[in-house]
Amino acid sequence: MDEKRIDALCEQFRALLTEQAARAEKLNSDTAPQENREKTVIGIVPGDGIGPIIIREAKRLLERLLKEEIAAGRIELREIEGLTIENRLAKGKSIPEDVLAAIRECTVLLKGPTETPKGGTMESANVSLRRELDLYANVRPVRIEEEGIDWIFFRENTEGEYTLGSRGIELPGLLAMDFKVITDAGTRRIAKAAFDYAKENGKKSVSIVTKANIMKKTDGKFSEICHEVAKDYPGIEAEDWYIDIMTANLVNPAIRSRFEVFALPNLYGDIITDEAAQLQGGVGTAGSANLGARYAMFEAIHGTAPRMIEEGLGEYANPSSIFNACEMLLRHLGETAKADHLRAAMEACTVSEKAVAVTGDKSGATTREFADYVLSKL
Ligand code: IPM
Ligand code: MG
Repeated sequence: MDEKRIDALCEQFRALLTEQAARAEKLNSDTAPQENREKTVIGIVPGDGIGPIIIREAKRLLERLLKEEIAAGRIELREIEGLTIENRLAKGKSIPEDVLAAIRECTVLLKGPTETPKGGTMESANVSLRRELDLYANVRPVRIEEEGIDWIFFRENTEGEYTLGSRGIELPGLLAMDFKVITDAGTRRIAKAAFDYAKENGKKSVSIVTKANIMKKTDGKFSEICHEVAKDYPGIEAEDWYIDIMTANLVNPAIRSRFEVFALPNLYGDIITDEAAQLQGGVGTAGSANLGARYAMFEAIHGTAPRMIEEGLGEYANPSSIFNACEMLLRHLGETAKADHLRAAMEACTVSEKAVAVTGDKSGATTREFADYVLSKL
């Protein structure tokens, strides 16, 4: 055993622990008031792979829906350049500084998927953005109208396995360790977001999904704090579920429609929302909101689809996910009527009428054709 190496790793761990304890303390005191701005700036970040293709259509959609507001100068759609894998690799930064500064100038963001290099130390741009802008709540609705399913997932978005995911430790040839971090304050705020939603939307239960039988400290804390928060919401049931059986429940038509609101740590939320989106019609159909006290970012739940690009099928990507994210963005800005209008158009195009459908390959419509179809319903 290389004692020197172990000492060095203990030092590394000490630094991580000190840093995370400081972060947790700061969370307890953070209030981050929302600034009042005269003009709403919607930052548009194309991203990588199919990102620029679906974002191009989403921008067209927002230009149409917000035509008057844009003309009157109340809303600006501002394209942000430089959050591309090429530029990030060239600068050696998951978010180059000038790009982050431009992003911070915006009120909200609409973001295409960004490529995450596997291995190495370069962090995912998504993970960095969520942390830098403190977007702690990842809110992902999934609906299956025929079954009366109206799920909404409140995935904790800045902690868990993601906080130190690119800063694990290793004894080469022997072992590797990653760290999962759950804080009291971080859990309390996501739990509050889930229960507030349940209360405001007449939901009867919140399912707290963990693996607290195995991840005793971290998931144990997550569940415990959720139950503490639940005490402030009489009439809303706080149910404990393990992630494995919940994964099975979602594909069990006999039970799945009883679930309403979910609260989960980061990684479980990541995984199960892909499953849920697939049940709704594919990951290409689901939008996602990343919310913090100050900033908000809206995106598709899926990645850059490198295989579609390699096979020359980028122009057949489904823009539904990012269109649904646009609906969430409009709602967030208080543009409820426009959001409802978009929802109705999407409903007609993907559920009731379905005259044009994207399949992700040449058997279906192109991204542009489907976008034209949705625009024709507005
Ligand atoms: C998501 C994505 C991201 C995540 C990736 C791109 C880092 O899968 O938003 O669900 O793991 O959170
Ligand atoms: Mg994911």
